[in-house]
Amino acid sequence: MNRLDFHLKKASNEKICMITCYDYTSAFLLSQTEVDCILVGDSAAMVMHGFKDTLSATLPMMRMHTAAVSRGASNKFIVSDMPFLSYRKSQTVSVNAALTLMQAGANAVKLEGALGNVKLIRHLVESGVPVMGHLGLTPQFVHQLGGYKVQGKTDSSAKQLQEQALALEEAGCFALVLECIPKLLAKTITQSLTIPTIGIGAGPHTSGQVLVYQDVLGLNVQFTPKFVKKFASLHIPHGQGVNAYIQAVKCGEFPQHEHCYHD
Ligand code: KIV
Repeated sequence: MNRLDFHLKKASNEKICMITCYDYTSAFLLSQTEVDCILVGDSAAMVMHGFKDTLSATLPMMRMHTAAVSRGASNKFIVSDMPFLSYRKSQTVSVNAALTLMQAGANAVKLEGALGNVKLIRHLVESGVPVMGHLGLTPQFVHQLGGYKVQGKTDSSAKQLQEQALALEEAGCFALVLECIPKLLAKTITQSLTIPTIGIGAGPHTSGQVLVYQDVLGLNVQFTPKFVKKFASLHIPHGQGVNAYIQAVKCGEFPQHEHCYHD
């Protein structure tokens, strides 16, 4: 999969499947699957570091996760999130942030919102950096949005999102994440664009879907948003495996002869 395949998949009505990943081991496991695209999301701040939102993601953090994922899944198309405000200071600072992520192994960067980003996106695209857009419930705007709320529910906010989607396509984005918007709005936006849309909490009519790895596998047991489907319950074998290890250590069953070095 490369940037051009995103267009081809939309043209041939083939769904695009993206999943987040933040570390080498999971990336290697994903490299053995048919997933189309890996997102090193700034959700790393929450999922991997335990922060309460994505505002704590930093460029060094995103560079480290991007590099680890790229070492584990060099056969996959990797999109890396530009962290909060890293693309809002000046063009030079923003371009350097994109450079850091691309040199860490990203094939593209993703940034949130359209207002004030169009010029930068055009410049990055003209400079050889594929850019994925992100509209709707953009988590970096959590304070501006007054919480994690479904977006585009009123006529005027739906119209704004449609206009912003077109502006991002015109600026050169190769794909667009739509997060937590009504499914009919997602359908309208998807039909109005030539670039594919990748939905999360945006219904079935987008060109593809993205979910957080730990949610897909049922490793995150603390909170499950409405739009998440757990496709496995790995927290159960995880607990069983760790408890079996503890039990074996405590009762002296591990290590055995074959686990020891002999003279
Ligand atoms: O950071 C992230 O995980 C994301 C997805 C939820 C789209 O941006």
